[in-house]
Amino acid sequence: MWRELKPIGRHPDSGGYRRFAWSEADIECRAWFRAQAEGRGLAYEVDRNGNQWAWLGDPEAGDAVVTGSHLDSVPDGGAFDGPLGVVSSFAALDELRGRGVEFGKPLAIVNFGDEEGARFGLACVGSRLSAGQLGIEQARRLTDADGISLPQAMERAGYDPTAIGPDPERLARIGAFVELHVEQGRALDLSGDQVGIASAIWPHGRWRFDFRGEANHAGTTRLVDRRDPMLSYAETVLAARREARLAGAVATFGKISVEPNGVNAIPSLVRGWLDSRAADQATLDTVVTGIEKAAREYADAHGVELDIVRESFTPVVEFEHALRDEIARILEGASDCLKVPVLGTGAGHDAGILSGSVPTAMLFVRNPTGVSHSPAEYAAEDDCVAGVIALADVLEGLTRR
Ligand code: GLV
Ligand code: MN
Ligand code: MN
Ligand code: MN
Repeated sequence: MWRELKPIGRHPDSGGYRRFAWSEADIECRAWFRAQAEGRGLAYEVDRNGNQWAWLGDPEAGDAVVTGSHLDSVPDGGAFDGPLGVVSSFAALDELRGRGVEFGKPLAIVNFGDEEGARFGLACVGSRLSAGQLGIEQARRLTDADGISLPQAMERAGYDPTAIGPDPERLARIGAFVELHVEQGRALDLSGDQVGIASAIWPHGRWRFDFRGEANHAGTTRLVDRRDPMLSYAETVLAARREARLAGAVATFGKISVEPNGVNAIPSLVRGWLDSRAADQATLDTVVTGIEKAAREYADAHGVELDIVRESFTPVVEFEHALRDEIARILEGASDCLKVPVLGTGAGHDAGILSGSVPTAMLFVRNPTGVSHSPAEYAAEDDCVAGVIALADVLEGLTRR
C-alpha cells in the first residue's frame, strides 16, 4: 500500500508532499483510496462533502465502528501525517480478517477531505461541513491563492459541489470513531511507548494580520520618510514569540504575503497569518490579545494601518472519557503493556471536529524526532506495525461491545 501512495504529490527537490485539496495529487490519492476499498470488496461511497468511505457490512445498520484520517498535506508535508491513519486502517482490517474476526457491526474506513486547509486556509473542511461546523455559504466563498473557489475546485476534480453541507444522517450511523495518527511531538519517545491515546486537543485558531503602509523606492526614500509595514510585521513576529513564551503556549507566523514583493521596493502590504494554540481557552485569549495589542502599537509607531481578521477557530476538544477508558482497557488487555499513555496535543484533527457529534478517540504512534509538517517527519516500521495491531485490537473490541 505505502509503495503506491509514496510517490503521489512528492516534490522531487524538497522530498516533501504537496497534496492540496482537490489538486492532481489529491485526485490520485483519492483514486488510491478507492482502489484499496474496492480491492478488499468494501462498498465505496463519497459523501456530499467529498469525504470517501469504504464500508464492510451494511452502512445503514447503525452503530458503525469507523476509523480513518486524511490524505492531503501541508506544503512540503511529511509522509505520515494523515496517510498513516488511512493506511493503518486498511492494514488493521486485513489483520482482523486474518484473525477470522466476525464483525457484529458495520465497519468503515474514511478519508476526510482537506484536513490541513493548505489550499483554502481553513482546516478540516470535509469533517467541519459534515458536522455542521462550517456554514454552506462560508464554504462556497472559500478561495485559493489563484482565486479558484472550493466549489470550482471540487467540480474540476470531478466531484459534485452542489450538495455540500451538514450530514447528520451519516454521522448518526457512527457508534464510535477512532483516528490513528503519527504523534506530532516526542511524548511517546520520552516515555518509551510505541502507541498512546489522545486525551484532548488544544484550542487553536488562525488570524490574518494585514499591515498596510506605502510602497516607495528602496534607494531614494529616507528612513524617516518611510511607512514600512515590514517593520511592524517583524516586530509583531517577535511579540508573538514573547507572548507565547510567557504564557506557556505556542504562536507561529508561518505564512506571509508581501506586495508588491519587489526586492527594491518598500512594501505597501505585508499580510501575515498567525497560528496560535494553548492548553486552555483563557491562556489562548491572553496570548492573542497580547499579540494584537503589540501589533497595533507597532503599526502606529510606523504610520501603518492594521486589520486583524480571525479566519478560523477550534475550541478545546476533550475526547470522550468512557471511550478513552474502554480503549485503554482493550489495549492493556491485549498486550503486556501495563499502562497505555494518555496525551494531549496541540495539533488539530478531524477527530476533534467529529467529537462534537460522535463518540471519538485517537491513537498516536511514536515519532522519534517529534517532527511533523516537514519532509523529516518519521515513524519507525516497528512502531507503525504496533499501531496497526493496536488499531485492530481496538476495532475488534469495539465491534464486540
Ligand atoms: C493540522 O494538522 C494542524 O493542526 O494545523
Ligand atoms: Mn497536519
Ligand atoms: Mn493530520
Ligand atoms: Mn491536522
